Amino acid sequence: MGEDKPLVSIVIGSMSDWDIMVNCARTLEEFGVAYEKNVASAHRTPEKACRIASTAEERGVKVIIAAAGGAAHLGGVLAAHTRLPVLGVPMKGWATDGLDSLLSTVQMPRGIPVMTLAIGKAGAVNAAIAAVQILSLSDPVLAGKLAAFREKQKAEVLALKFPDEA
Ligand code: RP5
Repeated sequence: MGEDKPLVSIVIGSMSDWDIMVNCARTLEEFGVAYEKNVASAHRTPEKACRIASTAEERGVKVIIAAAGGAAHLGGVLAAHTRLPVLGVPMKGWATDGLDSLLSTVQMPRGIPVMTLAIGKAGAVNAAIAAVQILSLSDPVLAGKLAAFREKQKAEVLALKFPDEA
């Protein structure tokens, strides 16, 4: 994104995940957060996945977002190769409505966490917001944008009307 150094690294296990994870990217853009994006599979291209994670900190990345489906090991593999926070987004995949992805992302053994969001689009958007929350801890401008986002969201919900009240 532009010339800014990426603060967030989005890693997807397959290009087939991008339809959903583009919602993560768009949300980061709304907050003006620079990000990088890569396709890297824990199973098919493990060296690339490890390289992205192990070099992320020296590139200035602060948060990694991993999205994968099925036996979704990507978040855990990335987390094993960095001390940066890793947020996991389970993809719906091709079976079990994404329950397989959810459990294989969330059930990290003690010691190496992957902070796991909801399955699919809600998780994609919330991963971006969670990254903004983490970055806001040391960025007052971003913290202001987050506060404004929350207020706008609240006002929109409070203004909702039933169709027969419009
Ligand atoms: C995972 O397998 C990917 O993250 C994707 O969600 C799923 C299916 O991948 P493709 O067969 O579409 O490449 O590794």
